[in-house]
Amino acid sequence: MAKKRYVICGVSARANGMYIKPILDTYRPHCEIVGLLDSDPVRFDNCFAKFPELHSIPVYRPEQFPQMIEETKADVVIVAGADFTHADYIVQGLKRDMDVISEKPMATTSADCKRILEAQSKSKGTLYVTFNYRYNPIHSRIKEMVLEGRVGRVTSVDLNWYLDTYHGASYFKRWNRKREISGGLSIHKSTHHFDLVNWWIDQKPVEAFAYGALNYYGQNGELNPAKEDGRFCGTCRVKQNCAYYMRWSSRSKAIVPVDDHLSNFDTKARSYSGYRPDACIFDSDIDIEDTYTAVVKYDKGAIMSYSVNFSLPYEGYRLAINGTKGRIETKEVVSRSQHHTAEQTIDYFPLFGAKETIHVIHRQGGHGGGDPLLLEDLFLGPDPNRRYEILAGAEAGTLSVLTGEAVWKSVQTNKPMRITELLE
Ligand SMILES: NC(=O)c1ccc[n+]([C@@H]2O[C@H](COP(=O)([O-])OP(=O)(O)OC[C@H]3O[C@@H](n4cnc5c(N)ncnc54)[C@H](O)[C@@H]3O)[C@@H](O)[C@H]2O)c1
Repeated sequence: MAKKRYVICGVSARANGMYIKPILDTYRPHCEIVGLLDSDPVRFDNCFAKFPELHSIPVYRPEQFPQMIEETKADVVIVAGADFTHADYIVQGLKRDMDVISEKPMATTSADCKRILEAQSKSKGTLYVTFNYRYNPIHSRIKEMVLEGRVGRVTSVDLNWYLDTYHGASYFKRWNRKREISGGLSIHKSTHHFDLVNWWIDQKPVEAFAYGALNYYGQNGELNPAKEDGRFCGTCRVKQNCAYYMRWSSRSKAIVPVDDHLSNFDTKARSYSGYRPDACIFDSDIDIEDTYTAVVKYDKGAIMSYSVNFSLPYEGYRLAINGTKGRIETKEVVSRSQHHTAEQTIDYFPLFGAKETIHVIHRQGGHGGGDPLLLEDLFLGPDPNRRYEILAGAEAGTLSVLTGEAVWKSVQTNKPMRITELLE
C-alpha cells in the first residue's frame, strides 16, 4: 500500500515529539512527511537539527498553504502550531476534501468552531481532534465502566484539576498567556477536561456558570520579587528571590523537572526567533486567568462541578462520577512533587453493596500512555477490537471549546451562558 503523505502546519515542540518522531520511527512503513509550514524559519532549523533526514523536504510560510498542498500532493494535514492558527489550516484542508489531524484546542473561539463545522459538513475529508487524555488507560476504563451501566444514569460529576508550580507556571512563561493566541486556559487547557467529561457521560453541555481570577501570576502576583516587566528566567537577576524558580532549581543550577506535558518543550532561547519560552510569570501583559470554578449542566440531566488551579503544591486531579446505580472515583497525583506517589486506581461504589478497587494496567508513553495509543488509531486506523468511539472529531472539538468560552464569558458577565447559543 502507498504511504500516506503528511504535511505539518506548526513545527512546534508538540509536532516534533508527538508526530514527526513517531512518523520517522514507528510509522515509517505507513507514512511520510512531505512538507512543513511555520511562520518562524528558525523552527525548520530546529526540526532539521533534531531530524537531519528531513533536511531536503520543502518548507512553507503560512500564506503558502495552497502552494504546499499543490506541490507536495499531501493526503493529510497535521495542525500543531499555536492554538489561534488551527482553525484556518483545518478549514483549508477540509475544503480540499483532505483528512486533517488537529491538536487541541480545535480552535480558540466559537466563531472559528462555526467555520470548522460548516467546512466539515461539506467535506469528504474528516477532521480528527487529538484528545489524547481519552486514551489514558484509566480514562478508557472509566468510559467502559459507564458503558457497562455500573453507575446507571449519570447525575453529577465532580472534577477538580490541579497544576503544580512548575507545569502551571509554564503556561504563563509562553504564548499561552495571551488570550488571543491560546483562548485562555478555560479553552487551552480545560478543553481536555471538558471533552473527557462529555465523552465519559455521553451527554452534551448546555449551560455554564463560572467564577475565575488571576491570583498567582501577573504583575500583582504576591510572590513577584520585583515589579519590573520584560524579565526572562534564563537571564533574570532576581530569580534567586523567585519562589517559583527556586522551588525546582537551586542557586547553582537551573533544573528542568521531568514533565509529561513539557518533555519536548524547546527551552533553548535559540529554538524560536523573536520569542522566548521563559518569559517572566509576573509580566503585566498576562491577560488570562489562573483559577476557575464552574458549574456545567448537560442535556440528559447531569450537572458538573469543575475547578482548575494553575499554582498548587502538587499536580493531579480528583474525579467522581455519580449515577442512579453507583459512583466511580479516582485521584491522580503526579509524582514530581514527591508529596504522594500512590498508584492511581479506580474505586467503584455500587449504591448498595461492596466497594471494588480496580488496578488498571498502566502503559508506557506520554500522557499516561495515551499518546502512543492515539497515534495507532491515527496512523493505522481505529482499533477494530475497541467497541466504543474514541477518536474525536469536529463536534467534540466544538463542544469542548464552547464550554471553555462559556466559562470565560460567564466570568466576564457574571451570568450563566447557554453553550450552543455561542454558535449563533
Ligand atoms: N494534546 C496535548 O497533550 C498537547 C501537549 C502539548 C501541546 N499541545 C498543543 O500543541 C500545539 C503546539 O504547542 P507547543 O507548546 O508544542 O507549541 P510551541 O511553542 O513549541 O510551538 C508553537 C509553534 O506555532 C508556530 N506558529 C506561530 N504562528 C504560526 C502560524 N501562523 N502558522 C503556523 N505556525 C505558527 C510557532 O512558530 C511555533 O513553531 C498547541 O496547540 C498545544 O495546545 C497539545
